Amino acid sequence: MYSFEPTPGQTRAELHADLLSAASALTEGEPDAVANMANVAALIAQFMGDLNWAGFYRMVGGELVLGPFIGKPACIRIALGKGVCGTAAASGETQLVPDVHAFPGHIACDAASRSELVVPVIRDGVVIAVIDLDSPSPARFDADDAAGIEALAKAIAQRI
Ligand code: SME
Repeated sequence: MYSFEPTPGQTRAELHADLLSAASALTEGEPDAVANMANVAALIAQFMGDLNWAGFYRMVGGELVLGPFIGKPACIRIALGKGVCGTAAASGETQLVPDVHAFPGHIACDAASRSELVVPVIRDGVVIAVIDLDSPSPARFDADDAAGIEALAKAIAQRI
């Protein structure tokens, strides 16, 4: 049994430091990418809270393809440049979206989603995946969340 849990009352920056340590420990020495993405998605959901979807899309043959996640069944393939995920993958830049309804071309996989954070996972200068987080609350994500998930993406880039 693994027991990684957030500490009540900690700041978002502290929470992300703990999430990063847990994800690093859980994926260390494990070569299976699917297992690592599955555990990281579970850790993100457990640590961050107020999420209705957390998981990965992987770059496969020039498009994003659904990977391990927590949440409702989601769109399987997303073209580069489309939606929040495709925009993050095409630009290599984090997309912090306080109101998904205001994002042109947002792809609604779960009608409950109100805000979204998508962080590219970059290995050797190439986007290999994105981490996608959705929340039912407007403006759920802030700059600490973006920085925290960016650090996490960097830490696992060689392990997925
Ligand atoms: N909303 C995303 C699609 C993926 S789902 O949120 C899981 C987008 O616009 O790319």
